[in-house]
Amino acid sequence: MILGIISIFLLTFAAESLELPYLSAYLDALGSNFTHGANFATAGSTIRPQNTTLHQSGFSPFSFNVQWYQFNDFHRRVQNFRTQKDNEVFKSLMPKTEDFSRALYTFDIGQNDLTAGLFQNLTIRQVRESVTDIVGQFKTVIKDIYNQGGRAFWVHNTGPFGCLPYVLDRQPITSGQVDKYGCVGPLNQLARFFNRRLKETVDQLRENLPKAAITYVDIYSAKYTLITQATRNGFNHPLRACCGHGGKYNYNAHVGCGGKAKINGTEVLVGKACADPTVIINWDGVHYTQAANKWVFDQIVNGSFSDPPIPLGSACHRQI
Ligand SMILES: *[C@@H]1O[C@H](CO)[C@@H](O)[C@H](O)[C@H]1NC(C)=O
Ligand SMILES: *[C@@H]1O[C@H](CO)[C@@H](O)[C@H](O)[C@H]1NC(C)=O
Ligand SMILES: *[C@@H]1O[C@H](CO)[C@@H](O)[C@H](O)[C@H]1NC(C)=O
Ligand SMILES: *[C@@H]1O[C@H](CO)[C@@H](O)[C@H](O)[C@H]1NC(C)=O
Ligand SMILES: *[C@@H]1O[C@H](CO)[C@@H](O)[C@H](O)[C@H]1NC(C)=O
Repeated sequence: MILGIISIFLLTFAAESLELPYLSAYLDALGSNFTHGANFATAGSTIRPQNTTLHQSGFSPFSFNVQWYQFNDFHRRVQNFRTQKDNEVFKSLMPKTEDFSRALYTFDIGQNDLTAGLFQNLTIRQVRESVTDIVGQFKTVIKDIYNQGGRAFWVHNTGPFGCLPYVLDRQPITSGQVDKYGCVGPLNQLARFFNRRLKETVDQLRENLPKAAITYVDIYSAKYTLITQATRNGFNHPLRACCGHGGKYNYNAHVGCGGKAKINGTEVLVGKACADPTVIINWDGVHYTQAANKWVFDQIVNGSFSDPPIPLGSACHRQI
């Protein structure tokens, strides 16, 4: 089961490495098969419900609590269908009841809560003050999934968003704060502050939920290493988007990858990817490229960025 993701690609690599099919999205009405789990993630989602629309702010209306309602609904409906007769076709599309206790529940969420605050012109201090509420809401959901039988959880921390084009492009967030790698130091500090609080939350959950196996994965460090040591790892232009248009970061907040820009009076599609996306880290100013996600996944899959340091393939078992 996947909830909350902002980096879908990492999980597609996870499915491949475990030799499982990709998970169907919960909201896909046709052609879905949930035998191996379901994907509740949506792009741009936050832990806390936002008080803005998708159109106003770009953040998903399917915040973590909504994904949780969807999961609850999914769980209940699977149980109902399992007890009915003559539903063989449906049953072959659903997980078994016991799979809910055997599944790995996977989470990558929180970064958008921080950027949403900054984009509403909150100060870093104000955003820091909101972190208690953010991680508190996260905790509530994990506890509830545990109470429904969930036992294994895989939790990514948040990445160095002070190195991402869509953040770097924003004034006045960036003014005078750029470090030697070209990233905004105070924003990466904010990400690390969130991560410390998330880690504390995971430690509390381990105490509260004695039968849970919770793996905390330090995605931040893997991504930060990639961005700040790009050349050594076979990448270049770590702060430039591959598919975008204009400016220092090949990124324009008004015309994203796939949009249309007017250049010298002629409308052109901003759809041309960079010459070789396999050596570029950032895809569209916001998301990582497939190559970068693969690199990050290869770093984390063996557990070397995890607490406890166990590989993905063993994350479903509690280490005693
Ligand atoms: C949305 O507004 C409510 C009511 O004022 C507030 O409690 C909540 O924290 C706000 N949410 C966010 C993400 O700012
Ligand atoms: C759904 O996927 C499972 C596992 O891959 C397979 O056994 C099952 O037949 C599929 N169901 C349908 C209706 O195709
Ligand atoms: C944030 O501040 C900028 C610059 O002063 C302004 O253009 C923008 O409208 C403000 N955004 C919000 C959500 O208040
Ligand atoms: C747009 O026009 C200017 C001035 O004629 C020219 O220097 C520039 O190369 C043109 N840009 C593109 C993308 O064609
Ligand atoms: C985990 O994998 C990475 C990337 O292949 C490698 O550099 C690292 O040494 C491995 N760590 C362990 C503990 O096996």
